Amino acid sequence: MLIDNYPKIELVGAPTPIEYLPRLSDYAERDIYIKRDDLTPLGLGGNKLRKLEFLAAQALQEGADVLLTAGAIQSNHVRQTAAVAAKLGLKCMAILENPLEEATDSYQHNGNRLLLDLLGVNVLSAQVGPSLAEQLSTQAELLQAQGFRPYVVPVGGSNTLGSLGYVGCAQEIMHQVADIPDLSAVIVASGSGGTHAGLSVGLEHYLPQVALVGVTVSRSSVQQQPIVEALRQSLAETLKVNVKQPLELWGEFYAPGYGYTNDSGNEALNLLAQLEGIFLDPVYTAKAMAGMLSGINSHRFAGSGPLLFIHTGGSPALFAYS
Ligand SMILES: Cc1ncc(COP(=O)(O)O)c(C=O)c1O
Repeated sequence: MLIDNYPKIELVGAPTPIEYLPRLSDYAERDIYIKRDDLTPLGLGGNKLRKLEFLAAQALQEGADVLLTAGAIQSNHVRQTAAVAAKLGLKCMAILENPLEEATDSYQHNGNRLLLDLLGVNVLSAQVGPSLAEQLSTQAELLQAQGFRPYVVPVGGSNTLGSLGYVGCAQEIMHQVADIPDLSAVIVASGSGGTHAGLSVGLEHYLPQVALVGVTVSRSSVQQQPIVEALRQSLAETLKVNVKQPLELWGEFYAPGYGYTNDSGNEALNLLAQLEGIFLDPVYTAKAMAGMLSGINSHRFAGSGPLLFIHTGGSPALFAYS
């Protein structure tokens, strides 16, 4: 199929489950399913492992001995990259930035940050000024000068190669939803954009009748659109497929900004925990779930069939927000 020719290392294994959420469906008066990408098997799971299957394969091909990446202090991406490095016997170095103006003690030290210490990550604090991408390339040069062979995993794993992981996820979804008639839409958090872009290309190819909604977690839909669109076009060109459907981005649920909690997100987080025993995270999936619930209430989805929420993981970040 579309991505079969790209070298990858197996990190996800069996398809992640798609489960019906009976109590949330009753509450929202709409059939809701959830894809449990929070349960991917390594390092407490999450969406980045699908991207890392391709990125780490390239790192090994290039003979890398260090995975170098960057993100926020509570980053799930950095945790999963570090777990993959550990599994492959590579070192991991991470540049971490603090996106919050006032960070509590628990934000600075708990949750994913603790797990980075357990995973033996060499952590550097980001500088104020240059972008994380610039700091990654400067750090890669420094490591090379010291005799290391670093492989830079981009922020969020969101380049064309990493995004292939979610084209593969779309193919997985196609097989799994064969017995869910009239699926109306798939809903996903849209951050660095690779997950959204990969699903967009994959779903248009494998399930063209199903809409895809990206709920932004760091910026307005107008700011997010060119980021996801560029990745999507590059993927489409690489895979030689057409993408014609317009991107659907909902930008009303991320305020006041990346890494900050908000009321509708907190409500969604409590709701899923108390109705289904499933934990979301405050930075990404709670905001996406808030978007989905609001969209149901305001009849914003085209069609009235079931919805599929992609749980991209992140619950270890909950402990940064105690
Ligand atoms: C839990 C979780 N959900 C969603 C996302 C967003 O995925 P992407 O960066 O591919 O847009 C991330 C990214 O770090 C994440 O950690």
